[in-house]
Amino acid sequence: MIIEPRMRGFICLTAHPKGCEQNVKNQIEYIKSKGAIEGAKKVLVIGASTGFGLASRITSAFGSGAATIGVFFEKPPLEGKTASPGWYNSAAFENEAHKAGLYAKSINGDAFSNEVKQQTLDLIKKDLGQVDLVIYSLASPVRLHPVTGVLHRSVLKPIGSTFTNKTVDFHSGKVSEVSIEPCSGDDIENTIAVMGGEDWAMWIDALKAENLLAPGATTVAYSYIGPSLTEAVYRKGTIGRAKDHLEATAFTITDSLEDINGKAYVSVNKALVTQASSAIPVIPLYISLLYKIMKEEGIHEGCIEQIQRLYQQRLYTGSDVPTDEKGRIRIDDWEMRADVQEKVAKLWEQAVTENLEEIGDLEGYRKDFYNLFGFDFEGVDYKADTNEMVNVSSIA
Ligand code: NAI
Ligand code: NA
Repeated sequence: MIIEPRMRGFICLTAHPKGCEQNVKNQIEYIKSKGAIEGAKKVLVIGASTGFGLASRITSAFGSGAATIGVFFEKPPLEGKTASPGWYNSAAFENEAHKAGLYAKSINGDAFSNEVKQQTLDLIKKDLGQVDLVIYSLASPVRLHPVTGVLHRSVLKPIGSTFTNKTVDFHSGKVSEVSIEPCSGDDIENTIAVMGGEDWAMWIDALKAENLLAPGATTVAYSYIGPSLTEAVYRKGTIGRAKDHLEATAFTITDSLEDINGKAYVSVNKALVTQASSAIPVIPLYISLLYKIMKEEGIHEGCIEQIQRLYQQRLYTGSDVPTDEKGRIRIDDWEMRADVQEKVAKLWEQAVTENLEEIGDLEGYRKDFYNLFGFDFEGVDYKADTNEMVNVSSIA
């Protein structure tokens, strides 16, 4: 069939298999062009199908020649209905990995569940013995707690008072004012339950209990800080509380890994267009201004550039991993540069519907958004009849 983007609000209901494949191939080419990384050889990526997790899987496989197991929650294709992009990404990744002689298998299911954890442990036991790197890159709006059976929903709200600021509808380019009511009830606890560190620790405990972590194993989860502009809705909002919890969990995990000399890190990454971030009000306006400035300065990065730098210049340099005063790895350093933030803050003041197309990088934002779903890639014939039923035997 001919596959076109079909938008509903902030999501796209369709995905293009050839475009997703192109996306994965471009990322692989980038990693190959940057040379080998002396990194982990057996890697588990939780949240491996899109965004930072996919970039991590690609960097491990094609930068370090690693065997990878990827866990994710995606929709396979049905006759007449496309898969979710992460499913096509993973299918393309596996094909490329296998062509390159690399082990790659995937588990498609709810990573929060005991069943998917057990399935993953069994696969590691059977095929890899142990893993030496675990990347934790889940972004989810809900978590069914495996012990209590409670379904937690995360919210993106300020804490204490209503937050009013500018936002943009990136499809139309219309800048408007948005007011977000403060959280209430159990919103904070629920958001921590979904996006905090409890599940990360459960994964590491489960792996360790079955002796599946190699001596010196490392685990990394991803966090975000961002500027004062977005603080009320992000870092000082409900999601920020979850990130505080995630960051604190790195220390408790490191303590629990002392006997195998293992270590847990949080890496603070740059703001990027992903399915998760485009749903947060205010953030798309910030990102479109940030992209403009970072591209002008020649320091713009996507997920793959960020993770390549994380591996090569932070995790696997041959010496100690550099961290900030709170023990966090920082690859948001260029985003947070004072000169960059000053310029973004100035543009923020000026931004209105009439000038945003010019002073911001709306075009870049939209392209990245379409790219998430496999659209708008060079070298893909979008007019061609395309088979949506991509088949991959190693996705369980
Ligand atoms: P994403 O939406 O691209 O990726 C989420 C991944 O989690 C996908 O592989 C998805 O299949 C998987 N997933 C979601 N629910 C699942 C479940 N129940 N079971 C198994 N897999 C599940 O998100 P993105 O942006 O790559 O986020 C990853 C991490 O990076 C998050 O912790 C996020 O907060 C963080 N981060 C994101 C930034 C951004 O600007 N996008 C900036 C800095 C950090
Ligand atoms: Na991810």
